[in-house]
Amino acid sequence: MTGCMTVRGFQIYSEKLDAETQQAMLEDLRQVIRQAPMFSPQTPFGKPMSVRMTSAGRVGWVSDRNGYRYAHRHPDGGPWPTIPETVLTVWRDLVSTDRDPDCCLINFYGEQARMGMHQDRDETDFSWPVLSLSLGDEGLFRIGNQTRGGKTESIWLRSGSVVVMGGPARLTYHGIDKIRFKSSSLLPKGGRINVTCRVVG
Ligand code: SIN
Ligand code: MN
Repeated sequence: MTGCMTVRGFQIYSEKLDAETQQAMLEDLRQVIRQAPMFSPQTPFGKPMSVRMTSAGRVGWVSDRNGYRYAHRHPDGGPWPTIPETVLTVWRDLVSTDRDPDCCLINFYGEQARMGMHQDRDETDFSWPVLSLSLGDEGLFRIGNQTRGGKTESIWLRSGSVVVMGGPARLTYHGIDKIRFKSSSLLPKGGRINVTCRVVG
């Protein structure tokens, strides 16, 4: 495990999760995906997002013509699975033992997927940090400012990297410009998984 560095208030732990932990988490996430299959969301403007996603937890994050929001059910009508213990262990280690997250969003990035610059602001409670875990191929993470635009800084997130966005950084713009396809052997067919845990409020 390497140390933690702070970039614009984002605490970045490069390779926080060892190979065994990554593999165990991947097995848990596969179990979640079997119960709540990945879907391809659309933005509120009707544009398909390039990532595929699903969630675990009390609520899941969804997006379609009706907007970005948290929903109590998967788009297919089924319940969201519970958040895996392997994920909760990292939350309790780095964020809090006082309460668990409400939502664990799982994003899958294929070779061409990216995530535009955005704030995480669909929650009603911004007092809790957002926890982000990366598995599989490296992703180029861009960190901006608390308002759109301005200078940015980029960092490659690797398999096992963990980011905590809290305090003043809770509403900082961020995104993923690209992935380095097949840079990791964790996912045999390539791709990147990002797991984001949030208290929704
Ligand atoms: C996100 O902010 O929605 C995803 C970030 C990531 O994939 O690392
Ligand atoms: Mn985000």
